[in-house]
Amino acid sequence: MATAKSKKTALQSVKGMRDLLPKDQAIWEKIRKVTRDLGEDYNFMRIDTPLVESAALFERGVGESSDIVEKQMFSIKSKDDIALILRPEFTAPVVRAYIEHGMSHMSQPVKLYYIGSLYRYEQPQEGRYREFYQSGFEIIGGESDPLYDAQMIMLAYRFLEEMKIGKLMAQVNSIGCRQCRPLYRKKLVDYYKSKPACKTCKRRLLVNPLRVLDCKEKECDPIKKGAPAMIDSLCVLCRGHFKLVLEYLDEVKLPYMLNNSLVRGLDYYNRTVFEIFSGESDLALGGGGRYDHLVELLGGKPTPAVGFSIGLDRVVMMLDKQEPAPANRKEKRKVFFITIGDLAKKRALPLIESLRRAGVHVEEFMGKDSLRGQLAAADKKGAEIALIFGQMEAFEDSIIIRDLKTGAQETVLLIKMVESVKKKL
Ligand code: HAM
Repeated sequence: MATAKSKKTALQSVKGMRDLLPKDQAIWEKIRKVTRDLGEDYNFMRIDTPLVESAALFERGVGESSDIVEKQMFSIKSKDDIALILRPEFTAPVVRAYIEHGMSHMSQPVKLYYIGSLYRYEQPQEGRYREFYQSGFEIIGGESDPLYDAQMIMLAYRFLEEMKIGKLMAQVNSIGCRQCRPLYRKKLVDYYKSKPACKTCKRRLLVNPLRVLDCKEKECDPIKKGAPAMIDSLCVLCRGHFKLVLEYLDEVKLPYMLNNSLVRGLDYYNRTVFEIFSGESDLALGGGGRYDHLVELLGGKPTPAVGFSIGLDRVVMMLDKQEPAPANRKEKRKVFFITIGDLAKKRALPLIESLRRAGVHVEEFMGKDSLRGQLAAADKKGAEIALIFGQMEAFEDSIIIRDLKTGAQETVLLIKMVESVKKKL
């Protein structure tokens, strides 16, 4: 029994990291299936990248002034003095892999999808964890075509629809390009200069001005509202691109709203950025955008790209609030394998294995309980058929098949076991 002292010192999972318990697995399996099915339906290829990457990848890719790189990286002490970190996001690793494996020589664009865990040193709260999961889709290469931007917004939407999340709304914005953004940045800084903005905004104005639009402080709300909008400063090309994205969305009647202050927390984006929300919640369920310079920034040729990721923990959280978790998969009728005596136990293993290989759902009891104890265990497990393999059966190469509902039983030869059991399922 645990004493008061041992209770106090019992080890727990690390702050911001959770166990996904057996009761949670049905919904996570559904998420994995939706990811795989959509990946296949939309012609994406699966990619898995390592959990650990060089810190330089994110410093260069995500941006040194982003929150992720500035304060959220989980660094690892490596023996050879290379700065390593637990991946905080997937896009930079996927682009690294695209370059490293010469995927620019494949037919373009290359469409990749992934699912896995990420690590960000954030203040844990509802919907925000230090270990969390994303599914994501990236289109790398080809043209910087607004059709792809719209398709990605649609796919993000579809993903959440498949997960039965209701009241979806996409928020979209364009943050322009290398030509028009600096002019907008200057307008924004000039506007904010004389305003009593919060400390964080003042600092952001120096290092990453667009991020002031992301400020959540109440005191900055009115300032933000009056700020010049990027959309009014877009160059002709960016304006044309964005107009087409919206027209495609209109064409498929996808609900969206323009959000002038949507800038996203990662530095690699240009032009279209988007996030998806459900109902009144202000937690984004997913986000993404175009990132036409990331491949080049990480050492590849100039290559347009666009993608998004869905925050899976938040999807599960919404489902928990919205409706009861979907029922577990339909259970197959269970078979309970009972052994009595050492010889039977020894010979049971290959028999159980042959049943499983034939697709029979077998529970086994390898303890030393009496026949009655084992039948009680079978009942507890909800088994409908018991296979009883005792000393005598082991000598005679036979086994008893008992219907636990009716009590009827028959003895069959072991070579007929699989066939006879399958007939009863
Ligand atoms: P992100 O906005 O940082 O984008 O993350 C995408 C989604 O992951 C968020 O909308 C949110 O649902 C979820 N998420 C982020 N941080 C946490 C956290 N600490 N706890 C729980 N969920 C979280 C990206 O990661 C980009 N790589 C998306 C992308 C793909 N852009 C282009 N391609």
